[in-house]
Amino acid sequence: MARQFFVGGNFKMNGTIQSIKEIIENLNNAKIDENVEVVISPPTIYLLLAREHLRSGIEVAAQNVFNKPNGAFTGEISVSQLKDSGITWALLGHSERRTILSESDDFVASKAKAALDGGLGVILCCGESLEQREAGKTIEVVTSQLKAVADAIGKDWSKVVIAYEPIWAIGTGKVASTEQAQEVHKAIREWLKKEVSEEAAEKTRIIYGGSVNEKNCGELTKQEDIDGFLVGGASLKPAFVDIINAKS
Ligand code: G3P
Repeated sequence: MARQFFVGGNFKMNGTIQSIKEIIENLNNAKIDENVEVVISPPTIYLLLAREHLRSGIEVAAQNVFNKPNGAFTGEISVSQLKDSGITWALLGHSERRTILSESDDFVASKAKAALDGGLGVILCCGESLEQREAGKTIEVVTSQLKAVADAIGKDWSKVVIAYEPIWAIGTGKVASTEQAQEVHKAIREWLKKEVSEEAAEKTRIIYGGSVNEKNCGELTKQEDIDGFLVGGASLKPAFVDIINAKS
């Protein structure tokens, strides 16, 4: 079945008011395939700037959200505050937050539940380390991360986009081979079919992240179970548009 191609841009902790405005201007003036769903994720402090200046049709994601409603949680941002600001997506479970900030599978799952319950879409990141891959544990690690979310949110994955991001490919320039990426994406889709539903398996977009650029995205788009990309470094550059249009 045809799943709408999805391209996310994860700016991570990069950018200034000026550089974010330049990225937005490039996107606003670019010819973008209207069949592609595009979501950009600037640092929290620039979410409103992005929402205010970005063309309609491109959505904005927060790089994090807390799992409790407004209250005494210094430094955190709530789902309702994101909705109040016109932010429609949350990027959750990124490996940098799982490793550097020690976010557990259960904490990520509780955030996903809060975000979905509050009406946000969730870009749910998963992926293995090089050591886990070399130990043959890739599928075990990825499906364990997904299971925690399934235990929290149940069977409705209609507003979830899964981003498979092998940690060893993030920021390294070592993009996964088409075979490596397709193998894990296929395994994730089979897991969805077995553990969630046939519909979730058919409809959920599974996107790839990890050193994607305008040169390597073409081959990856040809893989049956790769429904798009979550782009880091390359999303900060004008060639991000070429990645968005990779299927055109
Ligand atoms: O979330 C996307 C990111 O982890 C990938 O980063 O720079 O390897 O495209 P990069």
